[in-house]
Amino acid sequence: MPDRYVVMGNPVGHSRSPSIHARFAQQTGEAVEYGALLVALGGLPAAVAAFRAAGGKGANITLPFKEDAFALAGEMTERARAAGAVNTLVFSKSAIVGDNTDGCGLTRDLILNLSFVVEGRRVLLLGAGGGARGVLLPLLEERPALLVVANRTIVKAQQMVGRITKGDARTVTACGYDGLAGQSFDLVVNATSAGLTDAVLPLPAHLFAPGSVAYEMMYGRQTGFMQQARREGAARVSDGLGMLVEQAAESFFLWRGVRPLTAPVLAEMRAP
Ligand code: ATR
Repeated sequence: MPDRYVVMGNPVGHSRSPSIHARFAQQTGEAVEYGALLVALGGLPAAVAAFRAAGGKGANITLPFKEDAFALAGEMTERARAAGAVNTLVFSKSAIVGDNTDGCGLTRDLILNLSFVVEGRRVLLLGAGGGARGVLLPLLEERPALLVVANRTIVKAQQMVGRITKGDARTVTACGYDGLAGQSFDLVVNATSAGLTDAVLPLPAHLFAPGSVAYEMMYGRQTGFMQQARREGAARVSDGLGMLVEQAAESFFLWRGVRPLTAPVLAEMRAP
């Protein structure tokens, strides 16, 4: 009997996680079955309890339940605590352990798939919501020369940065979009949800340094940010599909202790 895992979300029908994990299982020979479960709003604790009672070994948690999963987990990794959100649950005999592999998914995609070294570079993170919170600490751990968080609502960026730096603001600063004027960055990560609509972010001119990477954390559509970045001279523009595959691989590793190869899976998913 294969070990059972699931992604829980609402909606969840569009999730690509089941097909990614099926490829990982095939590639590694791990006996894993991975499904998708639509969970009613407010219904995460009951759904997790039922899945665990039925022998489930772990779960991925997607929108809008990452904060609910954070509240549910009895134990927590540091990166999940910093994110204030959980996207991976590991069921042990005695506890539900919460982790967050989103940020690591981003940094691994940058480093492994885009060959972009964050260390020593100037990094701009756009947004201060759940998406941004999940990637801030992992980005910082790559030791950029400078990390600026810009958000439409400045106070949210300031609070997010304040929580992470605990008073040491040498490398991380917060500002609004106006505060970016005259600065340029080697990496610009869009963690806002502006890509869901056709909203245009008020990015100043010359934001993208020569050779820079523009990274959109969403996937599945050419967002306004990606178009802006191309027009404004970013050397490379990436969507978040690689991040999705890498966060899945990290979850698989947490559950199975085996790290699947991501490049072939990503290439397959990108194939027309
Ligand atoms: P998520 O969990 O996807 O990050 P969220 O917590 O609602 O969602 O946060 C959305 C982020 O996108 C916020 O940083 C938001 O900016 P505000 O904090 O000022 O609301 C940002 N965002 C969404 N639409 C935007 C737009 N049209 N222009 C600029 N920022 C936008």
